[in-house]
Amino acid sequence: MPVRRPSRPLSDPVNTTLVTHKTLVLPSLLSCDFARIAEDVARVELAGADGLHVDVMDGHFVPNLTIGPPVVAAVARVAEVPLDVHLMIDEPLRYAPDYLKAGAHWLSFHAEAPEVQGDLVRAVALLREAGTRQLGIALKPGTPADVLNEVLEDLDFVLVMSVEPGFGGQSFMPAVLPKLGQLRARGFRGRLEMDGGLAPSTVAVAGAAGCDMIVAGSAIFGALDMVTAIADLRSLAHGARQ
Ligand code: DX5
Ligand code: ZN
Repeated sequence: MPVRRPSRPLSDPVNTTLVTHKTLVLPSLLSCDFARIAEDVARVELAGADGLHVDVMDGHFVPNLTIGPPVVAAVARVAEVPLDVHLMIDEPLRYAPDYLKAGAHWLSFHAEAPEVQGDLVRAVALLREAGTRQLGIALKPGTPADVLNEVLEDLDFVLVMSVEPGFGGQSFMPAVLPKLGQLRARGFRGRLEMDGGLAPSTVAVAGAAGCDMIVAGSAIFGALDMVTAIADLRSLAHGARQ
């Protein structure tokens, strides 16, 4: 049985100014041209991407189906930056080893996934044993940050969803922003990733809230100039961070 560590009380806040991660920008391949994945990977890498965000959907946890392990392995063979695999699936423990083998560097699963609900401590321990390099848990917009209290110290990052998972191109939900400060107030010093609806018009509030790992699909692949799009997302978010 893994040992449960007590979580830090709310009355012991961390000085968030001491948390100084570089701001990373990760294009979401959900918005790429799937007939030309290798070309689009090269284009975003040349344009300054720090990693590639890969959205894995199973048609159960979310009403959409996307990318299986063989495609992730194929992307890993051509990619020069690390892969960030976001599992939006009912059974992350069952399938995570396949995605790790395929080349996932960052790996996140949802706290709401039926297979892990009620025992995130066990899920985190199992995914560490499976060899995850950078482990994160993703939260849907309606899920409070508190569900992570018992595992926060064991995570490398938290993915705060700013749209309902399932599709690209949705509108940013500012109501999720307070969760980032709540995680820092709980003592979390890892990375804070945000995903959904991030664009030049929304990324500054994400940065101001503490986001240091920006995922963007349509704002990058839909931009006329990808170099400027990535640079703007990075500088707007970083400039807004306190
Ligand atoms: C949504 C995915 C996102 C999506 C973001 O379920 O997790 O990664 O691709 O796309 P945009 O940036 O277009 O909202
Ligand atoms: Zn995603």
